[in-house]
Amino acid sequence: MTTAAPVSTGRPQPYLRLAELLMGSRIALALSLVAERGIADMLGDTEKTAEELSAQADIPAPALRRLLRSLSYVGVFQEDTDGRFINTDVSRYLRSDVNPSLREMSLILNDDAVLRGWQHLEQVLMTGNPAFAAANGQTFFQHIAADKKRSENMARFMKGIYGPEGPAIAAGFPFGRFGRLIDVGGGAGHILAEILRAHPKLHGSVFDLPKTAEVARRFVDEQGLSDRCEVFAGDFFEAVTPGYDAYFIKSTLHDWDDEKSVHILRNCRNAMPAHGRILITEIVLEPGKPIGHPHRFIDMEMMVTLGGKERTAEEFGALLHQASLRLEQVHHIEGSFFSVVEGSKV
Ligand SMILES: C[S@@+](CC[C@H](N)C(=O)[O-])C[C@H]1O[C@@H](n2cnc3c(N)ncnc32)[C@H](O)[C@@H]1O
Repeated sequence: MTTAAPVSTGRPQPYLRLAELLMGSRIALALSLVAERGIADMLGDTEKTAEELSAQADIPAPALRRLLRSLSYVGVFQEDTDGRFINTDVSRYLRSDVNPSLREMSLILNDDAVLRGWQHLEQVLMTGNPAFAAANGQTFFQHIAADKKRSENMARFMKGIYGPEGPAIAAGFPFGRFGRLIDVGGGAGHILAEILRAHPKLHGSVFDLPKTAEVARRFVDEQGLSDRCEVFAGDFFEAVTPGYDAYFIKSTLHDWDDEKSVHILRNCRNAMPAHGRILITEIVLEPGKPIGHPHRFIDMEMMVTLGGKERTAEEFGALLHQASLRLEQVHHIEGSFFSVVEGSKV
């Protein structure tokens, strides 16, 4: 395939990079439309013109060509001199048949309701209060939980963004110490599935909101893990399923402010037997230690959308203390940005 290269303007890379960043919200909206219409899936491993894609994408060909051409200039697709587009190493992650896929990341982060919150960034920075609920009349998770498709997209978003961490987490902590583990706010159960595969004697459960629990039930079934994995629907602000040796809670406390995080931890504590352990699995901030991309902006998302944040080991220790739990150890997961903060009952 002969490729049409963008004409060089002679302008320096940093100038172009900044111009691209300044267009970032437009690029993200264009990507989310492309994701929503499934255009990367339509292209698959083939090459197609805008005319060939137009009917299925439901976008008039001339407009679609301008859209795909613009995205080609920022490296998402590639166009040849005959006007045929192909997926690149970047756009392949918008396909739904790849693992990991970031298709749903673009749909959730560019959801109108989420972007409405971001319009109040200055207010968030000045007050420390998240903007989603004020802008939309309900919290982010109420918005997600109200709709089956959104719940599915959220679970797939989590699988896309955190799925690559799964094998390192499953191998990097001695989960085999436990007989029964529950993944609180476990989403579709993709991380638990990795842990169960790596520890064949372990019995696991997923606990999440009802519509997400439905997604998890299907996923656990597809993975052939139903014989040693149950799924519970519930609200962790009310109660968590009792009687597990380990309460694993990953990338979930960072969604919440300190007060709500302590509330969740207390409910885990109430559910734990005396020997039980809490395994908070998060990016644990350390001064001078990078947390990796895209996690830095996920921290901003926590601030703007949810009121949560990434925390240091000391901050996790303080949360555990307030929930009448004791910090036992922080285990860094080799080959991952995550750590497991292990706590026990006081
Ligand atoms: C950021 S996601 C993390 C998902 C998963 N642990 C992972 O690491 O991929 C947070 C999860 O908390 C769940 N959640 C939010 N509010 C909840 C509630 N009140 N009760 C139970 N689960 C809740 C969401 O549905 C979502 O699956």
